Amino acid sequence: MKKRLITLMAVAAMTVSMFGCGVTADKNASKGGEKKTVESTNSGSENSKKPLVWFNRQPSNSSTGELDMSALNYNDKTYYVGFDANQGAELQGTMVMDYIKAHAKEMDRNGDGTIGYVLAIGDIGHNDSIARTRGVRKALGTAVDKDGNTDSEPAGTNTDGSAKVVQDAKVDVDGTSYTIRELASQEMKNSAGATWDAATAGNAIGTWSSSFGDQIDIVVSNNDGMGMSMFNAWAKDNKVPTFGYDANSDAVAAIAEGYSGTISQHADVQAYLTLRVLRNALDGVDIDTGIGTADDAGNQLKEGEDYAYNADERSYYALNIAVTADNYKDFTDSTKPYDKVNKQLKSDKKKVWLDIYNAGDNFLGSTYQPLLEKYDDLMNLDVEYIGGDGQTESNITNRLGNPGAYDAFAINMVKTDNAASYTSILNQ
Ligand code: BGC
Repeated sequence: MKKRLITLMAVAAMTVSMFGCGVTADKNASKGGEKKTVESTNSGSENSKKPLVWFNRQPSNSSTGELDMSALNYNDKTYYVGFDANQGAELQGTMVMDYIKAHAKEMDRNGDGTIGYVLAIGDIGHNDSIARTRGVRKALGTAVDKDGNTDSEPAGTNTDGSAKVVQDAKVDVDGTSYTIRELASQEMKNSAGATWDAATAGNAIGTWSSSFGDQIDIVVSNNDGMGMSMFNAWAKDNKVPTFGYDANSDAVAAIAEGYSGTISQHADVQAYLTLRVLRNALDGVDIDTGIGTADDAGNQLKEGEDYAYNADERSYYALNIAVTADNYKDFTDSTKPYDKVNKQLKSDKKKVWLDIYNAGDNFLGSTYQPLLEKYDDLMNLDVEYIGGDGQTESNITNRLGNPGAYDAFAINMVKTDNAASYTSILNQ
C-alpha cells in the first residue's frame, strides 16, 4: 500500500513536471481576487482529454474554501456546475429575518423576549453549507467575525448565549425589542460519517426540544432533507416555523401544512447545465450553445436571470429563488425540466459516467437525479448513474474501473478536496 502510494506520488510529480502547463486563473475575478498560476495535473492520456464536469461539490479546499483551480482546469473541456451559494444564502437569511419581523409577537412562544432558533448544519467542510450558515447568521445579526469572515462553526448548545462562534442580536419590531439567539446548532453527521444526514437532524430536534423546547421559536436548516426531518419530528405539531433549502417537492408541499419556506437553487437549470456542457464539448460546438445562445431546437437560458457564468472559475452558477407561502404553488414539481430548455436535441448517442456522492442524499436523489434522467433523454446521452455511500471516495472511484468505456464524466465528490482521486484514474 505504502509502496503504491509512493509510486503514485512519483508519477504525479513527474506528470506535473512533464506536462505541467501554467494556467493562469483568478479565484475571485469578480471580487478582485489575486491572479494565481496553477499547475495542470493532466497526463495527456486518452481519458484525460474527455469532457469532464464537476457538479454540486466544487473542487475546493474544505477548510479555507479556496478553489482547486487545477481540477477546474483539468482540460479544456472541464467545467463546474453548481449554484450561487452566497446569493442563495443571503436569500435564505433574509427570508427568515423577514418572517421574524412580520411575526415576532406571536412567535415568541414563552414570551421571554428572546426569539430562539436552532440550526441544522449539513457539512462543516462543504462550501454550500458554510455559505448558508453564514447567510442566516449575518441576516439575523448573530454572526461573529473570524479572520475577516463570518464564523460558520457549529455553536453546540447555547441556551445561555455564551457561545463564542455566535452572538445575541437585537431587533425592534413594532416598538418592542427582541433578542435573537442561536440556541443550538450542530453538524448533522451520522456515526458512519455521512453528512447532511436527515435522521441525525430528527434526533437532534428530539434532544433539543426535550431540554429547552419552549425556547425554540424557529427551526432553520441548511437543507430541506434535514429541515423536513425536524419539521415532521417536532416543529409541525408544535407550530414552530421551519425553514430549509432546496425546494424539494415534499418540502414545497409541506408549505401548505406550515413549513415556512425554502430556497429553490434552480436544480432544473443545474441538471440541464451539468449534461449540456458535456454534450456541447462532445459535439465540439461553442460551449454557450443552448445556454446563453439558442440552439437549433430553441433551448436557451437567460444569463443573469437563470444562471451566471464565471469564466475564470470555469463555473456555471444557477441562481436561487425564495419559495414561501406566497409563491409555492409554482414550485410543486421539483423534477420537471425547465420549460426554456426542454426541447429534444438531434445528435448521436454518447456514453456518460456520472456519480452522486451519496445515493441517500435527499436533494440529489429526489430532485437532481430525476431531472438528470429526463434531460439525458433530451440530449441523447446514455448515462450510467453511480450512487456512493456518502462516506468514502473509494466506494465510488472503485466503480470507475473502465473509463475508456465512456465518452464523458460527471463527478460529484464526497469531499470537495478529493478531485485528484478521480483525475488520477483518468490520467492512467
Ligand atoms: C444541497 C443539499 C445537499 C448537498 C449535497 C447541497 O447543495 O442543498 O441538500 O445535501 O448539496 O452535496
